[in-house]
Amino acid sequence: MPNIELLHTISQSSFEEIVAYISLFDLDNRALQKQEFAAVSHQQNIIAFGRIKEHPTCSELCSLGVTEPKRLQGFGKTVVQALIKKATQPLFLVCIIPDYFKPLGFEICENYPIEIAEKLRYCTDELVVPEKYVVMQYKPKV
Ligand SMILES: CC(C)(COP(=O)(O)OP(=O)(O)OC[C@H]1O[C@@H](n2cnc3c(N)ncnc32)[C@H](O)[C@@H]1OP(=O)(O)O)[C@@H](O)C(=O)NCCC(=O)NCCS
Repeated sequence: MPNIELLHTISQSSFEEIVAYISLFDLDNRALQKQEFAAVSHQQNIIAFGRIKEHPTCSELCSLGVTEPKRLQGFGKTVVQALIKKATQPLFLVCIIPDYFKPLGFEICENYPIEIAEKLRYCTDELVVPEKYVVMQYKPKV
């Protein structure tokens, strides 16, 4: 697709677009910082985004979203792969769609750092959905 760009540096106007989508999609909107994000743009408009939160002992992939007309075209996967490279510590996420993340190298785990336990509590209490939240860790096959 022409005019598609993977953005490792996010401008203030792109950041504002992302923040609006995070609210629209009911994603984790806590303490958003533009340098945490990677994104994909099409003709200067954000179509996919996600962030790496660096905690004291681990990294967390979160606030991942793709605009509705652009879903199922590989843009979410592109962002996840960029974020995996951006993470600097053992990488975790909390989600309701483990089958999406398994082919990307994540496995469901039962043991995780306290910051991820807190994230699980936030999701369960504040982002209420019928599906069960699970914690996953990035464990690339060697
Ligand atoms: C979940 C989401 C990020 C996926 O992004 P996407 O760009 O549509 O997905 P991709 O095109 O990268 O999909 C890659 C693969 O995962 C599959 N897939 C997509 N959504 C899936 C889902 N919800 N569950 C399982 N597999 C899924 C695709 O079919 C594709 O498979 P293939 O490689 O065999 O063709 C997007 O649907 C979205 O923004 N949803 C709303 C917000 C959300 O749920 N965010 C995640 C919070 S943890």
